[in-house]
Order: sequence, then structure tokens, then C-alpha cells
Amino acid sequence: MSNEAKQRRVESTLALAPVVPVVIIDDASRAVGMARALVAGGVPAIEVTLRTPAALDAVRAIAAEVEGAVVGVGTVLTAKDLDAALKAGAQFAVSPGSSPRLLDAADDCELPLLPGAATASEAMALLERGYRFQKFFPAMPAGGPKLVGAWASPLPQIRFCPTGGISLANAPDFLALPNVACVGGSWLTPADKLAAGDVAGIEALAREAAQLKR
Ligand code: 3PG
Repeated sequence: MSNEAKQRRVESTLALAPVVPVVIIDDASRAVGMARALVAGGVPAIEVTLRTPAALDAVRAIAAEVEGAVVGVGTVLTAKDLDAALKAGAQFAVSPGSSPRLLDAADDCELPLLPGAATASEAMALLERGYRFQKFFPAMPAGGPKLVGAWASPLPQIRFCPTGGISLANAPDFLALPNVACVGGSWLTPADKLAAGDVAGIEALAREAAQLKR
């Protein structure tokens, strides 16, 4: 797939819902129920972060069993992570920032990457490599809606998915911006609800998030 085709794939993934749930999962056996709840609630693009040993098993299970889910792998830091994500059946990858080595690996990998930027210089360096879609991370500590909004005029080619410190309450401030495609956040899959297998609770959080306007 060409880099431009990968960008189009990212574009259609980010268009699926106003929020991409960012998941930290400890027990892979909870993955399918959780993902079905998210899909049923209207947020089908799901980022499972590589922050736990269960993450890749969770991705494999979701990719194999959950109809309608578009599962991605987050916290991708290295070429090895990217390869593991692809082999697990992920449809996209997300990184908190970018490094030249990771970007070189992404050029040679079929998996579309959504790399992170937190400054105008980082966003420009990614744009030079063809990334019109970028994660803005960590969104709130880095400057929140004011910072990403300030990039709309000088960097109109780039659409961002802000994540980091986003909630149902502050998501509208980002979604109102012309250069924000959607937001990401872990609030839809809280650790207590995941551990308890509270799929009804997760579906309710997803439903609320899916109704956010953009
Ligand atoms: C991410 O990787 O995008 C963040 O960890 C999600 O941030 P949050 O937990 O503040 O939503």
C-alpha cells in the first residue's frame, strides 16, 4: 500500500466516530466483550495499547471475533512493535511520538500509522514524510485545544486526533476545531469496568461518546 493509501485508510478510520477509545487491558479474556460493547455503543475504531502483556492477545481476539470493530495497536514505539501489531491482525497503529527509525519501519510496513506530535516542528517533520493525520499527544499537558487550534491556520493540511487528558467534558472543545478529526481517550474503558466485565457500563460510556458533535 502506498503512503497516500495508508493516509486514506487512517482518514476513514478516524471518521468512524468522534472518539477512539484508548484501551489498557490486563486480561485478554475481557477483550471481545469490551469490543462488542464499544461497537454496539457506536465507537468501532479501538486502540489497544501495548502497555500490558495481554495487549496482543486482546488484539488477536478482537480482530478474529468482533464484527464491525476496527482494531488498532497503540503505544507502538519500535519496528518490532509495528510488526507484532500487523501479525496480530491490527488495522492501524498509533505511536505517542515519532522517531526516524519508527517512521522508516512504517514506510516498509503495510499497517497505516498515526504518529504523535506535540509541537509545530514535530507536526511539520511528519507532514514532510506524508503524514496528514497525526495524533496530538499529550493533548492537555501540551497545551490543549488552544495549542492544536493555533495550528489550524499555519498547518491547514494536517488533521489531528488529540489524546491525553481528554474527557466527555472537554472533548467538545477539541471537536469544534476545524483541524481535529476526532479525539482519543481511556475514559470509555475504565480499569474497574474492564476488570468487572461491566460491558453494559462500557456500552453506556461509548454511547455517550458517540453522540458528541464534531
Ligand atoms: C494515550 O495513549 O493516548 C493516552 O494514554 C490516553 O490518555 P488518557 O488516559 O488521558 O485518556
